[in-house]
Amino acid sequence: MTEQVWSSTTYDRDARFVSDLAEGVLDWLSPKAGERILDLGCGDGVLTETLAETGAVVTGYDQSPDFVRAARGRGLEVVEGDGHALPFHNEFDAVFSNAALHWMVKPEAVGAGIARALRDGGRFVAEFGGHGNVAAVVVAMRAVCRARGGDETLACPWYFPSPAAYARLLEKNGFTVERAVLIPRPTPLPTGMGAWLRLFRQPFFDQFGEAGAEEALQEVLSLLEPSLKDEDGQWTADYVRLRVKAVKNPVNAT
Ligand code: BEZ
Repeated sequence: MTEQVWSSTTYDRDARFVSDLAEGVLDWLSPKAGERILDLGCGDGVLTETLAETGAVVTGYDQSPDFVRAARGRGLEVVEGDGHALPFHNEFDAVFSNAALHWMVKPEAVGAGIARALRDGGRFVAEFGGHGNVAAVVVAMRAVCRARGGDETLACPWYFPSPAAYARLLEKNGFTVERAVLIPRPTPLPTGMGAWLRLFRQPFFDQFGEAGAEEALQEVLSLLEPSLKDEDGQWTADYVRLRVKAVKNPVNAT
């Protein structure tokens, strides 16, 4: 299987830090009571709930049935669907997204859908993996894959653009980009790199068969250990975030 499958339980155990680290991007969004906000790639709804607590009227959107169930379990309104085909038209004051857009690898379709979903003057605020994100991890997977004669594309199925490239994409879709920056963020992994790799890249390892998958995982870990595991045994992922804020131009603006 080459597709990513999400489990809200495993995500809660191995990746809760993702929503815990969202303070900065929430500040950029600065939600207001009564505003209609779309949370694109809302996952299990932990951040969506934080947005709703401000009094904003929030709609979550996610493709994973398990995440949608978990988010609805928090009493949130959530639509299940593909981020490449957003079904909304001029409905939102803001579109927000945290740690989701790097999974959507047809960014032109996503950008067009975000523009359609916003009213004129509405804002788009997002944070996701930027250029150079998890570079060491990806290089280690590629090296192991090359030695084993596997499919290297499975090592990096993500979209990690530079600020300039992403700003161009948004401008093409009728946005004025106010800010777009890369933020290096070495991120401690509470349950280690093995758990991170299993959670986020199991399809890469599955290509080597049942026994080969575990061997390949150990090979990747041994390549990474000297760089990403410290003297106390703490693993840190080499995250780089792209944070962006853009405003949808009025239709008749030049
Ligand atoms: C990230 O949040 O940067 C990320 C998460 C999973 C896989 C790759 C990157």
